[in-house]
Amino acid sequence: MGAQVRPLEEADRAWAYRLLAGRWGSTRMVTRGVLHDLTRLPGLVAWRAGERAGLLTYHLAGDSCEIVSLDSLVEGVGVGSALAAAAQEAARAAGCRRLWLVTTNDNLPALRFWQKRGFRLVAVHAGAVDEARRLKPEIPATGLEGIPLRDELELALALQ
Ligand SMILES: CC(C)(COP(=O)(O)OP(=O)(O)OC[C@H]1O[C@@H](n2cnc3c(N)ncnc32)[C@H](O)[C@@H]1OP(=O)(O)O)[C@@H](O)C(=O)NCCC(=O)NCCS
Repeated sequence: MGAQVRPLEEADRAWAYRLLAGRWGSTRMVTRGVLHDLTRLPGLVAWRAGERAGLLTYHLAGDSCEIVSLDSLVEGVGVGSALAAAAQEAARAAGCRRLWLVTTNDNLPALRFWQKRGFRLVAVHAGAVDEARRLKPEIPATGLEGIPLRDELELALALQ
């Protein structure tokens, strides 16, 4: 069973706050030197068996749409894929030609996930996480698997 995706509504905000604060250590996210308040971004919520199962937040700017966060609460059953597909639809509907995101150098599962869904690695921003730590000191020194957290990996998908 996959997941149904609906736009984030006011009624989802308290749940989204708890999820983001719990999983990212803060509701603030720095990407490419920009500090985002995740609680103010538009989002998509995945529902599965009557429960919220995942959240994606995004930021529209001109003809680009940035996926700022993606969290699956039930991994390996299609929640992340459903949210990624819905983000493409939302971006297209908003007239975007490019969907992009950054992940960090430690996040090998994300690198795998996005590349398998058509995204290309378009840039490595060496040292960008070290820079981001000045805006968001709560970013830890090490990430997944104890990998030093240092660089931003930018991935993008051209929308037809
Ligand atoms: C990366 C992440 C979003 C993936 O979410 P997910 O819900 O596990 O993703 P899916 O279930 O759609 O896909 C993962 C795997 O599950 C399996 N899967 C997908 N749909 C399935 C289905 N309907 N039935 C059975 N298995 C399925 C596939 O094997 C898939 O692997 P693939 O990449 O080889 O195709 C999740 O691991 C996560 O929240 N990570 C932590 C936060 C994070 O790093 N976010 C990304 C930052 S950029």
